Amino acid sequence: MSSPNNPPKILFVDDEDNVLKALKRLFVDENVEVLTASSGKEGLEILKNNEVAVIVSDQRMPEMTGAEFLEKSIKISPDSIRIVLTGYADIETAMYAINKGGASRYITKPWSDTELLITVLNAVETYNLKKENKQLTALVKKQNEELKKWNAELEIYVQQHTIDLTRQNKELMKLNEKLKKNFKDFISAIFRIIELQNRVIYTHSNNVAMIVSDMVNNLSLSNDERETIVIAAQLHDIGKIGTKDPLILKSMAEMTPEEKEEYIKHPLIGQSALDVVEDLRQVGILIRHHHEWYNGDGFPDRLKFDKIPLGSRVIAIADKFDRLSQNCNSEDCINATLKKIKNLSGSQFDPDLYEHLYNAVKSVIKLGESQDVEIEIKPVDLIEGMVVSRDVRSGTGLLLLKKGAVIDEKSIEILKRGYHLDPAKAGIFVYAKRKKP
Ligand SMILES: [Fe+2]
Repeated sequence: MSSPNNPPKILFVDDEDNVLKALKRLFVDENVEVLTASSGKEGLEILKNNEVAVIVSDQRMPEMTGAEFLEKSIKISPDSIRIVLTGYADIETAMYAINKGGASRYITKPWSDTELLITVLNAVETYNLKKENKQLTALVKKQNEELKKWNAELEIYVQQHTIDLTRQNKELMKLNEKLKKNFKDFISAIFRIIELQNRVIYTHSNNVAMIVSDMVNNLSLSNDERETIVIAAQLHDIGKIGTKDPLILKSMAEMTPEEKEEYIKHPLIGQSALDVVEDLRQVGILIRHHHEWYNGDGFPDRLKFDKIPLGSRVIAIADKFDRLSQNCNSEDCINATLKKIKNLSGSQFDPDLYEHLYNAVKSVIKLGESQDVEIEIKPVDLIEGMVVSRDVRSGTGLLLLKKGAVIDEKSIEILKRGYHLDPAKAGIFVYAKRKKP
């Protein structure tokens, strides 16, 4: 771009020296640099070494006409604005200069100074605008190319980043699954320890957990809440480990004051035993309150109504049912037990939970299964949905699955593993349903 320190250049070509001088004088006050040549040949040489904005050439010159010179100048300086100076008689050759020599216009001799000045300065302006436009176009093109490149790089980066995030996400999900599995295995391990310590507590806890598991499926709870309640049901009497079995079987009315004093501590002992594990704190709270009564007559905090956590209310009603039905061998006995529980609804138990207990008992307790044929099979032959007809124990007597349990994916895994680590002599006894005639 031109500037006051670097003014645009104008080249005048004329074989008459006085014409060149006159033209030079005309532009003496303008911010332009005037170059002159007395022939087309000299003019071409000047163009090779200078960026010229406007070329003004006389038409009539010896050796090379203005039209010929302008035509040749296109190759050297394509962007210059070309003007031809011509006499009135030479309009036709001026047109030739316009067509062939790329001249934008012609000025007739003798010229008007003002007209020539304005025409040439306008041409300088046009040249500057064209040049500026060209530079801007080039800049936009370059920026577009850079933008395209950045876009392409960004796309690659985003794709790579997405791949990385997806991979990390998958790894986190795997890790999470592993943590969940470890947590479940940890609970199973505690449950096994309960069994080794006290089989009465284990059997009772297992029964309560089965009923609770069925009940929570019909309550509006999240999966996590259901899982927490079932774990609490499994571990609700963990605080009794170490107590003597007779004490566990007694009702509170049959206990001595000392036994009663020890007994009412078990929900608190259970809670504090689990409190060290952060993920089991909610389970601990449910255990603490599983002996609260709906009317506030329970222990340890005498909470009432919905101040008692729902999970604790569910465990309380299932717990009582299992205790009262321990010696039941008939459907009548089960129904009588359910009736007793119904009578306690509203006082000891949440009345809204009775129906859920009733449905769970009918679904979990498989009365009348004795009519089915019992078969002995190996762990590999187990099929989901089969009902276990006898307690399944490992070689050293560890209870793997209780009578009445319905085989599912998890229990198949437990049995296969139990039989592998500590093989039992006998197989697994399950009911084979007789086909209906
Ligand atoms: Fe208890």
